[in-house]
Amino acid sequence: MKETEKIGPLLQAFHKECDAAASPGEWNDVRVKYLGRKSVIMEMMKLLKTLSPEDKKTLGKEVNKAKAEMERALEEKKRAVESCKGQIAVDWTLPARGVLPAKVHPLTTVRRQMEDIFIRMGFDIRQGPDMETEWHCFDALNIPETHPARDEQDTFYLNREKMVLRTHTSPVQIRTMLEEKPPIYMIAPGRVYRNDVPDASHSPVFHQVEALAVDENITFGDLKGVIYAFLSELFGSGVKTRFDNSFFPFTEPSAEVYMSCFCGGKGCSVCKGSGWLEIGGAGMVDPEVFRAVGIDPEKYTGFAFGFGLERMAMLMYGVPDIRYFYENDLRMLTTM
Ligand code: PHE
Repeated sequence: MKETEKIGPLLQAFHKECDAAASPGEWNDVRVKYLGRKSVIMEMMKLLKTLSPEDKKTLGKEVNKAKAEMERALEEKKRAVESCKGQIAVDWTLPARGVLPAKVHPLTTVRRQMEDIFIRMGFDIRQGPDMETEWHCFDALNIPETHPARDEQDTFYLNREKMVLRTHTSPVQIRTMLEEKPPIYMIAPGRVYRNDVPDASHSPVFHQVEALAVDENITFGDLKGVIYAFLSELFGSGVKTRFDNSFFPFTEPSAEVYMSCFCGGKGCSVCKGSGWLEIGGAGMVDPEVFRAVGIDPEKYTGFAFGFGLERMAMLMYGVPDIRYFYENDLRMLTTM
């Protein structure tokens, strides 16, 4: 009987396609083609009704056997395609989506650049605690109790007696001079705290880099030379410096340090038209400070300066708002 002869090749073709199905969609196509309403098997089922009882019995047995075999194969295959759903039809050679390589924070980058420059000039790196005694933070630095820097407005006082969150990195000068004998050439990068309302240029927590040199015959010229060498290393040899009159209780004379703006002095929004950018305070170590730490001011002189790390990074990367450094916005972090 010619219908029964069709079943062998039909099963063969079915198995080939069923084995090849690689996704739930392809699996369903095979199921519809071989067991759906318009499939050869279903046509044969309909045909059975028109056959003689004997033919009906022969073909019926074959058709049912083939149908059961297909159902079994499909059921098995179904588990296989579903267990690897989403993995099939993936092109492994495509680049991954949205994977960002880890990066160093821009403040860390600038700090490391500054450290490298000073290390090459012969300075060592020193650290001090964020929680500081009033003595290290103020008294030893010749900042009297009545000085505005000690006002509750600026300083975070801690519950413990005579302890504060340091308002500048200058107490590391004191700690270093108490522990080491001149010659001293050190820088101290670190976090500082001030009770300021945050805005585009203020943050209650920010960073400074302190520098201190104590030796025989250190002059204001050395201070200017070191600052100029440092700034031209960091920003390029075209940079100019300017020292303006200032006052700090722990330096005498004291200066406000400026560098030429990137606009070339023409005046822009960053320098507010002045052509100059303020980057920190500096001066010659006050003899009162030397006396507080037991260094002979007749024998030794020194210079010190303190620059704002955020300020450097803002100038370097053209960041208009200090708060951007702490918000971890990927639009900022990935471009630096
Ligand atoms: N400590 C000063 C400040 O925070 C900066 C400074 C450091 C000035 C060293 C002079 C010498 O404003």
